[in-house]
This record gives sequence, structure tokens and C-alpha cells, in this order.
Amino acid sequence: MTDPQQALARLVAAALAAAFGPEHADADPLIRPSQFADYQSNAALPLAKRLGRAPRDVATELAVRLGDSEEIETAEVSGPGFINLTLHDDWIAAEATGQLGDDRLGVVPANPPQRVVVDYSSPNVAREMHVGHLRTTIVGDSVVRVLEYLGHSVIRANHIGDWGTQFGMLLEHLLDVGEEAANAQLAAGEINAFYQAANAKFKADPSFAERSRRRVVALQAGDLETLRLWTMLINDTKKYYNTIYARLGVTLTDADLAPESFYNPMLADVCDELEAKGIAVISDGALCAFPPGFTGRDGSPLPLILRKSDGGYGYATTDMAAIRYRVRELHADRLIYIVGAEQSQHFEMVFAVARQAGWLTDAITAEHAAIGLVTGADRKRFRTRTGSSVKLSDLIDEAVERAEEVIKDRYDDPELRAQIAEAVGIGALKYADLSVARDSGYALDFDRMLALTGNTGPYLQYATARIRSIFRRAGIEAASARGPIGLTEDAERALALQLLGFGAAVTQVSEHAEPHKLAGFLFDTASAFTAFYENCPVLQAPDEPVRRSRLALSALTLRVLLAGLGLLGIPVPERM
Ligand code: ARG
Repeated sequence: MTDPQQALARLVAAALAAAFGPEHADADPLIRPSQFADYQSNAALPLAKRLGRAPRDVATELAVRLGDSEEIETAEVSGPGFINLTLHDDWIAAEATGQLGDDRLGVVPANPPQRVVVDYSSPNVAREMHVGHLRTTIVGDSVVRVLEYLGHSVIRANHIGDWGTQFGMLLEHLLDVGEEAANAQLAAGEINAFYQAANAKFKADPSFAERSRRRVVALQAGDLETLRLWTMLINDTKKYYNTIYARLGVTLTDADLAPESFYNPMLADVCDELEAKGIAVISDGALCAFPPGFTGRDGSPLPLILRKSDGGYGYATTDMAAIRYRVRELHADRLIYIVGAEQSQHFEMVFAVARQAGWLTDAITAEHAAIGLVTGADRKRFRTRTGSSVKLSDLIDEAVERAEEVIKDRYDDPELRAQIAEAVGIGALKYADLSVARDSGYALDFDRMLALTGNTGPYLQYATARIRSIFRRAGIEAASARGPIGLTEDAERALALQLLGFGAAVTQVSEHAEPHKLAGFLFDTASAFTAFYENCPVLQAPDEPVRRSRLALSALTLRVLLAGLGLLGIPVPERM
């Protein structure tokens, strides 16, 4: 089966070549969805300009040829030279029947497949994972699922912050609290409390601060006892992240950890290489790169600090080492960083230096998939009533509790109800993250995300449950519906045409790491299904072939929704 936009693009290219010569075959066919037809092509406008002819005449010549093709029912010129294109019902029906018989539902594997490192989630040890990390985790996990589905080889990189001077105070605090008590506190997710207590002592108690500084030195020097405590701190926090990941159905495992400390042994050599290449220079005692085009407010060149004047390395150095490692050792073709938008300049500078060093090239690319800020419903920074930042596990609990309220009247069996509430609550929370363009912020609003109508997780889950119930009533398995799909009603036709766009929607997610494109597609699909369901009786269809066709179309819709929700990482309850 073929994506309709691609099919039309090919036809327009052929018409361009036939009407105006083969040199025009690769002109952009400019296919867009249209209000007046299925699609519209705007190819005539730029071509007319190039040929020095009237756009409407050029459009007419193209339309005549397009109208002759088997796939197209009508091709009509409108406005200054747009061509409105309507596909043949038979073509759509045959393609939809083909999609039903295709295990991949029309999603074409990437050619050539790439090796992609996706850096996501990346919380900090002994710091509470906040709502921002929740979003990078959820968006990143959907991006890796999509890339893998397209046949790319994906390396998940959870670049957790496990290094830095703050570890001195954290380790000293751990000793003060006692190992066992600290273990319990951290694994329970009382991470903020732990951090804040350490920080308060550091500020108030000079002798504690002094101990902390000595502890940093011991950590950096590789003192065994210090390393043991540090490992303990990491393991405790890891336990907490892992419970969050498991509950959210996130695919990250310990094997995907690529902590900052992993790169420590490479930092000196990275600095040496950059210095030898003349990219990094000593400035005020620090080793700095000055990537071209970055200037401070006063117009002076902006430094990327690689080694501080005291010899210490920082966040940027680690990221330089990570790029070199991912390119040289992991042989990545593409690096995707799913990280908060506030780090944009950091990544721009790091990438610029990596390009200067020749680690990134036209063929080996890096992109910062920036994540916008999640705020509370009042559009202010997300906080609890007491003003501290919100514990992620509490946030998830709240989503699930509220989901249970939404569905409580439908299920008497408490176990079933709890199961569905978990899927609905978590689905709602994840979908709220995924349905908004990743670089725009949004306000986290439980009432909105849990609504059963509109572009929400529960609405999509409900659409799948409704289709399943049709099959239960029909007494057949959705998987056994074979078609053929035939189209008589407008709503049927619209749904079939919509479903054919699945492959294109999945591919679009992979282009710029944008799951909201798939979310939008699934919402449109569920809406088209609702219209179909309201207008076209399935079980009471006028005759057997129509009934069979509508069951097949319903089965195809179910499979597309389930596959799409699976790629977004949204759990789907069987009933709702
Ligand atoms: N740990 C960082 C933070 O919480 C995010 C790390 C992102 N990844 C990277 N390679 N810099 O802000």
C-alpha cells in the first residue's frame, strides 16, 4: 500500500515530466491536504514562474494529465493555479484492503537505516527527577520506539548526572545519616529532602562544608571508601528512577546508563585533542573553545569552558567527550538530545565545537530536540502546595487516583477498576506530554488530560475499547476480519483515506523527533472513526458485503490505533 500523498507526488512528477519535459520531474510537487478536495498540488505556481507562463495555463495542462490517471477521480484547477485532487474511491478501497493485509500497516522501513544515539531522561543522582525530566523521558521513549520500528539501530543513552562537586556534601550527609537510613530514604524517593538537608548543612556549618570539600577531593582521587559510598548513593537513586520507569512503561534499563562519570577518563584527552587542533586555547588560565558566531551581550566571543583554571572539568567537557565517544566508538550517524529548551545554547556551542573538531560532519549529525517547560495549571512553575518541587511518584499517583474517579461508575470489580485506572491515568499523563509540540510549554492540568473527549489519552483509549466491543458483540476476532474494504459512505471513505496516512505520520516523528505528529494523526483517526461509527451501522449494515467491509475497516482502525499508541508508549486497557 502507498501513502496517498506520496502516490500523488509521484503522479504529479510524472505529469510534470510528460507535459513540460523530463527536466521538471523532480520539481517539488507541493502536495497539501485540501479543504475542497482530498489534496491539492501547488506545483504549477513555481513552474509557471520558471517557464514565464500564466500559472492557470500550466495548472490546466497538468490537471488534464492528472485527470487521466487511474488513481485520480478529478483534478480541477482553482484560484491562481492550485490543482485540487480527488482520489478514486476504488483506489482508496484497494489500498486500505492492502494495508489490512500488511503486518507493518504501511510503515516503510528507513532506507538506509541509521545508527542513532538518543540521549534522554538523564536525571541527576540525588536530585529529584522533576516534571521536566518526566517529559524528556516520555518524549524520548516514544522517539526510540519509532526509530526502532523504522528499522534504525538505536542506542539509548541515559546521561545521568552522577558527578560534580555537590557529591562531597551528599556523601558527608550520607555518613551523618547512617548508611542504612540513607539507603531507605533515597530508595523511597525522598531525594529532595535528602538533598536539601545536605545543602542546608553545607550552608550553615563551616566544618561540614570543609569535610565536604575534602570528600570531593577524595572522590576525584579515586579513594576506595569514598567510591563505595558514592556507588551506594547512585544505586539508591537508580532504584527510585527504575520504579518510575517501570510504572510508566519506559523502556530504559540499567544497560542504557551512560552516566557523566563514564566519560571522566576521556576528558583530559578530549581537551588535548581540541588544543592540538587549535580549537581550544588558554584564556584567563582556563582552557576554552570559542566557536564562531557565539558572542556575549557585549559582543565579545563566548567561551565554552573545557577545563577550569583549577584544572576541573565541567558539564560541557563531558558532553564533548560523549560526542566523540558516540561517534568514534559507537559509530553513530545521528545523535539526538532530548533535553530541556533552557540548554539550547549549551548544545549549539557543543555541536559547533564538535563540528570544528571534525567529529560531527554533514553525514554525522547532532540535534537538540528541545523540550518546553511544563507548568502547573496556573501556568506558574510546577510546585506542590507547600512550595517544594513535586515528587514524580506523587504526580503519577494523583493521575491514577483521578482516573479512578472518572471511571468509577463503570466497574464494580475493584481489581479491574484499579487496573483500568492505572492505564487511563498513566496514559493521560503521558499523552498530555506527547500531544503538545515538544518545544512548546504546556500547563499540566489533570481535568483536561483526563477528559474523555478531545485530544487526550483517554479519548484514544476509549476509541480502541469501543472497536473491541463491536467485535465482542459480533462474536468474531478483530484479527480475523479480512475485507475486502469497499467504500460507499463519505464517512467510510474519509476514515479509509485517513488510515492510509499512518506510515507517513510515523516517518514524520523520526524526522525531527516529534511524537506530537503521531499523536495528532491518531486523534484525527479516532475522530474519523467516531464519525464513521455514527453514520455507518456496522453490525446492522444493509447487507453482508457492507457489514464485512465495515468490520474490516473497524479492525484496520483498531490495529492502526494500537500500533500508534504502542509507538507513543501509551498503555491501552482492553475495556473502558
Ligand atoms: N542531567 C542533565 C539535567 O538534568 C541533563 C543531561 C542531558 N544530556 C546531556 N548529554 N547533556 O539537566
